[in-house]
Amino acid sequence: MKKTLLIGLVVAALVCAFALPNLSAATKAPADMVLKAPEGMKAKKSPVAFPHGKHEEMLKDCKVCHHTFDGTGEVKGCAAAGCHDQPGKKDKMAFYKAFHGKDKKTCVGCHKAEKKGPKSCKQCHPKKK
Ligand code: HEC
Ligand code: HEC
Ligand code: HEC
Repeated sequence: MKKTLLIGLVVAALVCAFALPNLSAATKAPADMVLKAPEGMKAKKSPVAFPHGKHEEMLKDCKVCHHTFDGTGEVKGCAAAGCHDQPGKKDKMAFYKAFHGKDKKTCVGCHKAEKKGPKSCKQCHPKKK
């Protein structure tokens, strides 16, 4: 009896160790990220530190930010083709608009609405470039 239980536990542990990383590989982001403009877009501001893990814990729902994610499959980056991949500030699909503006899906929009988190340029873009 004890032996079968032990074997059962070992098997369960092995299944977890191998199955979990595979399952989450496409949907797991690093806890701390540094965001920057895509190659080819001339960045005017310095890269932005983004505690992804902290936001995951706080907000629970991935779709708050990943608003095209259907809950399964791959999570796309903001500047994926056909998404926020346009330069400048004016275009509806401008890269800039994914992070700033009144929409609560954006960094600045949510921080202003929640009255929490960094709101000034310098807090997020600490250096000139
Ligand atoms: C507060 C907003 C926010 C929340 C909530 C959030 N993410 Fe993210 N996530 C981001 C941003 C911003 C990036 C960087 C995207 C980029 O580089 O273009 C990112 C990147 C990722 C990436 C890497 C994608 C890539 O290839 O660039 C994965 C995977 C990911 N998130 C998964 C998740 C999952 C799973 C959840 C829910 C448990 C989640 N995220 C919740 C904002 C968020
Ligand atoms: C839907 C809401 C929401 C979105 C979207 C969001 N945040 Fe936040 N963020 C928060 C809240 C709420 C806090 C305050 C957490 C606290 O004070 O404990 C915060 C805090 C932060 C902090 C400070 C963390 C700390 O440890 O003090 C940083 C940096 C930050 N956010 C960056 C970003 C960036 C960059 C983005 C966009 C890529 C973003 N956030 C998008 C809600 C959001
Ligand atoms: C809550 C954090 C946050 C705040 C506050 C913020 N930004 Fe950003 N900004 C980002 C993120 C994230 C990106 C995307 C990553 C990158 O390009 O550095 C970005 C990108 C940009 C870009 C496009 C890329 C580039 O470097 O040219 C510009 C321009 C910009 N921000 C200007 C500003 C200005 C001006 C302010 C103040 C009015 C500001 N940002 C405030 C987070 C923020």
